[in-house]
Amino acid sequence: MATAAREHWSSRTGFVLAAVGSAVGLGNMWRFSYLAAENGGAAFVVFYLLVTLCVGIPVLLAELVVGRGSQQSPIRALAHYGGPAWKPLGFAFVAAGFLILSYYGVIAGWTLRYAFEAVVGGFPADVANRFGEVATGWDAFGYHVLFMGITIGIVAGGVKGGIERTSLVMMPALFVIVVGLAIWAATLPGARPGYTYYLSTDFSKLFHWSVIKDAAGQAFFSLSLGMGAMLTFASYLSRDEHLPASTLVIAGADAAVAFVAGLVVFPLIFALGLQDRVSASTVGALFITLPQAFAEMGGVGRIVGLLFFVTLAVGALTSAISLLEVVVASAMDGLGWSRHRAAWLAGAAITLLGAPSAWNTEVLGVIDQVANNLFLLGGGLALSIFVGWVMHDPVAEAADGTEGIQWFPVWQWLLRVVVPIFLVLVLWFAIPETWTAVKGLFSQLSR
Ligand code: PHE
Repeated sequence: MATAAREHWSSRTGFVLAAVGSAVGLGNMWRFSYLAAENGGAAFVVFYLLVTLCVGIPVLLAELVVGRGSQQSPIRALAHYGGPAWKPLGFAFVAAGFLILSYYGVIAGWTLRYAFEAVVGGFPADVANRFGEVATGWDAFGYHVLFMGITIGIVAGGVKGGIERTSLVMMPALFVIVVGLAIWAATLPGARPGYTYYLSTDFSKLFHWSVIKDAAGQAFFSLSLGMGAMLTFASYLSRDEHLPASTLVIAGADAAVAFVAGLVVFPLIFALGLQDRVSASTVGALFITLPQAFAEMGGVGRIVGLLFFVTLAVGALTSAISLLEVVVASAMDGLGWSRHRAAWLAGAAITLLGAPSAWNTEVLGVIDQVANNLFLLGGGLALSIFVGWVMHDPVAEAADGTEGIQWFPVWQWLLRVVVPIFLVLVLWFAIPETWTAVKGLFSQLSR
């Protein structure tokens, strides 16, 4: 097959910001603060950081090593180091890209809509009803189509001209706005109990499997691990890149944004006395309680609300780009398609696949569980075994571009032993739970 020279990032910053863009997304704002508040506050944060350090970072480095070393998209990269028997894992990565982006686009569509509404008419006073109206049906699907159109356009623009350029502009802007919002929230009278709620430490809540599973799922989802997104981005790197340094920057930025987002959400909700109306879901907190707060603040609320939802949409966009890129790169490498053709065809298929989620939020929730619990955690398990046990000399591969790193043996040991054992335990609990959710959905749908 005649293939053109592989695309590459034009700078190290470009790659790092694109990877941070993949990591920072709806997961940071949509899930993290909620999980933390529910599961023991600061204790959860500490535990989450521990999981990120011992499991997330090793798997992230593993993905970067396989991607850069092979210079190929996931299916071929795995076959490159492990033979054809590993191709199915690559196909599972591509399937995960399809699945996650299909509902991720729907949620991102909600954020786009809220941003528009802030500009046009402000937030309606009765947000709960309004959200009920706009969260599903043609409204939701329309904004999903719009969001997917933007995503496809950027990916079709290429690694440098589309993905890198977008991340270079949008990620710094996102950091500035999130930090700015957190500082502003601190000035609100009555914000204090919000910090207490978010960060009060309750270690007794930690020692439940469901909490450990949530922390693991969150770490994988938030770092975009277990489905080849980071692997694909790393395949556009040159060999002299310092992978361990990039790994730490990506993981640090991701955790920092998640933490700071919580410093926006909770003080704001408490300052306006809306804590009793934080419904039992993260979606509720983001799309009902917060807009309510913005609505009650009048003009300031419109500006802050606009900034908030634009930030969410930007985070979602740079994550969606990486999800689509996994599918697009695989179609380009495997089927010989042009970038344009791959982006538009795969993008259109994913957009249609989002229809069930756009019409039914229960479907959305269950697909999210399946993607997270089975695909990402399962993919991470397979990947750690692959790099830990199957790949020949991953340490030498990782060391390329560095002067040798003292903790490489620790990395290898974590990948070989700690990560697989931890993930098997988590999956042991996650699989039956996911199965119950899937069965429940089907019995509900057939009624
Ligand atoms: N990390 C993204 C977020 O936190 C979601 C994502 C998952 C992106 C998997 C790519 C791959 O929102």
